[in-house]
Amino acid sequence: MTVIDNLGRTRDGHAHAPRGVVLPHANATTGTVLDLIGNTPVVRLHSLARDIEARVLVKLEGRNPGGSSKDRIALNMVREAEASGALRPGQTIVESTSGNTGIGLALVGRVTGHPVVIVHSGLVSLEKLAVLRSYGAELVEADPQAGPLDPGNPRAVAQRIAQDRDGWWSSQFLNPANPGAHYRGTGPEVWRQTAGAVTHFVASIGTGGTISGTGRYLREASDGRVRIIGADPVGSTYSGHQPGPIAVDGVGTQWPSSSWPTSFHPGVVDEVRVVPDQRVYATVRALAEQEGLFLGPSSGLAVAVALDVAREAPRGSTVVVVSPDGGLNYLSKSFEQDRLASGDPAAQSGSDGAHTGPSSSSDLKKGHRA
Ligand SMILES: Cc1ncc(COP(=O)(O)O)c(C=O)c1O
Repeated sequence: MTVIDNLGRTRDGHAHAPRGVVLPHANATTGTVLDLIGNTPVVRLHSLARDIEARVLVKLEGRNPGGSSKDRIALNMVREAEASGALRPGQTIVESTSGNTGIGLALVGRVTGHPVVIVHSGLVSLEKLAVLRSYGAELVEADPQAGPLDPGNPRAVAQRIAQDRDGWWSSQFLNPANPGAHYRGTGPEVWRQTAGAVTHFVASIGTGGTISGTGRYLREASDGRVRIIGADPVGSTYSGHQPGPIAVDGVGTQWPSSSWPTSFHPGVVDEVRVVPDQRVYATVRALAEQEGLFLGPSSGLAVAVALDVAREAPRGSTVVVVSPDGGLNYLSKSFEQDRLASGDPAAQSGSDGAHTGPSSSSDLKKGHRA
């Protein structure tokens, strides 16, 4: 630790930082940006939870260096693949993703010396594309409407590129290192940050990695006391409803349960609640206006569920909810999302990994899009 005195100087007399600031010495001098992944802060909701006796704590995953919880899985998938020999030094990493996982992989690839190719569906926000380019990722656009047997679908394109270039397909929807990252990191952090007082854990479900890994850890640590609750957007089948258009980026699936990704472990989850789109976006706005927290749409979804859960919970409960990312990456999509939230089916959100599935039940019957 480097302690800064009241005049903003270190012990050797150099002026460095505002007074009273304590710097983590080792990371500041010898680490890489990868050391900044994880250990994200939690903040208590006040204004939004003013009539609620339970504590509601939001874990701010947007504070990861790539801006989302996906930095954790990118690092863990790459580290485990390197350790097992599945990913060799200098080998190209390929993933089909519409956003945060791509950014995490692009960042991790930069530091670990792997070129990164991101196959996206064209539904990704301009901001995320710009960030991916800044990290030097190669971008390939694939057809989000292409069916599972169509060689043009994003997953098939990613697999083919990995094959052609002797690369490694990280496959976040199949890779156990995805939930594993949250079992190793997010779960222990939540337990430690609440000193074991957490009683309810709420997360939105995209690949399911966050809720499955964190949920499993918290269950084990608490001997089954912590209740694990999923937050699902309208149009997703994770809640047992019929598939339809999904208006919240990065979450939900339109596939039947037989085709849910293996990164999602439904047995860990006690219940899944659905939030109407208007309430998702109203919660995003309220978080910014009342709490000073400018967060992404899937955070609005999860916080809305967390507030309901906290309202029903006994006094003394501690509800922890994950905010997967911040709001800045969605500014250019807000108009489109407002349209969807108001019921215009012409607008369609991107799902990370293009696992969204068929966009209607008739597509489902035709078996489109794996
Ligand atoms: C913005 C956003 N929120 C939430 C999630 C859900 O996280 P998980 O994939 O761990 O279920 C994702 C995943 O893609 C995401 O991109």
